Amino acid sequence: MSSEPLLIIDNVSVNYGAVRGLVDVSLEVPESGFVAVLGPNGAGKSTLVRSITGLLEHHDAKVKSGSIIFDGADITGKSSADVVPMGIAQVPEGRMLFAHLTVNENLLLGASTRTHRSGVAEDLEKMYEMFPALTDRRKERAGFLSGGEQQMVAIGRALIANPRLLICDELSLGLAPQLVAQLFETLTRLNNDHGTAILAIEQNARMALSHADYGYLLESGEVTLSGPADELRSSDEIVNRYLGGASSGGQTTPDNPAASEVN
Ligand SMILES: Nc1ncnc2c1ncn2[C@@H]1O[C@H](COP(=O)(O)OP(=O)(O)OP(=O)(O)O)[C@@H](O)[C@H]1O
Ligand SMILES: [Mg+2]
Repeated sequence: MSSEPLLIIDNVSVNYGAVRGLVDVSLEVPESGFVAVLGPNGAGKSTLVRSITGLLEHHDAKVKSGSIIFDGADITGKSSADVVPMGIAQVPEGRMLFAHLTVNENLLLGASTRTHRSGVAEDLEKMYEMFPALTDRRKERAGFLSGGEQQMVAIGRALIANPRLLICDELSLGLAPQLVAQLFETLTRLNNDHGTAILAIEQNARMALSHADYGYLLESGEVTLSGPADELRSSDEIVNRYLGGASSGGQTTPDNPAASEVN
């Protein structure tokens, strides 16, 4: 690849006191790339997200060594208030909506970091075009929506910040396979049509690898495998441990969601 990657994570280690979060993790997301990070519970996936988005400080942790470069700038240890305006937005694990605020209010919160306010109203309407299921719910409290609809709000809230890199931490958690497939299709469209780079943290290895270009496997805080998504889909390690053992060529099996989960 000729140009510099948009995001470069170079040998990053993070500890929570005596607990190791990440150990010498290196990872790249190319400009307009779609990268998946797979791994079981406790692998360090959310820690990786927090290191990029400046949220480690809320967990009394920090990047101990290594560096994180975004668009050529060193963002190691920067706060979320610094990195969001630079073009990094996240859909956090568990969605983290404000349950008592309306759908519209939650979406608009994502625009609060935009340096110029022009175009916010238009972009808000684009979110409803992207997720038509939300259109008639805009005045409803987010806490009353289904899990899937809440995830759409969480994605919309991240996108309205106009990010160059969208980080999704376990988008699929607790959602029906068909809805997960729809959300991943939305990410792919964003990636193809707008060039938004995607970093999808996922336990649903099958779904993530069928949409990403490149993937990393994180285990006990370390990258244990990486490669082009189609190669990972056929690697013995991934097939046997994360794709249910059958060499299905990476096809999604909506009728067999258990087979597509890591655990
Ligand atoms: N705030 C914290 N304080 C102490 N230890 C933590 C904290 N957050 C995470 N850890 C520990 O760091 C390790 C990595 O956790 P992390 O949440 O990054 O894993 P994960 O891959 O996101 O897991 P999951 O799939 O369950 O979301 C685990 O051992 C976890 O117990
Ligand atoms: Mg996590």
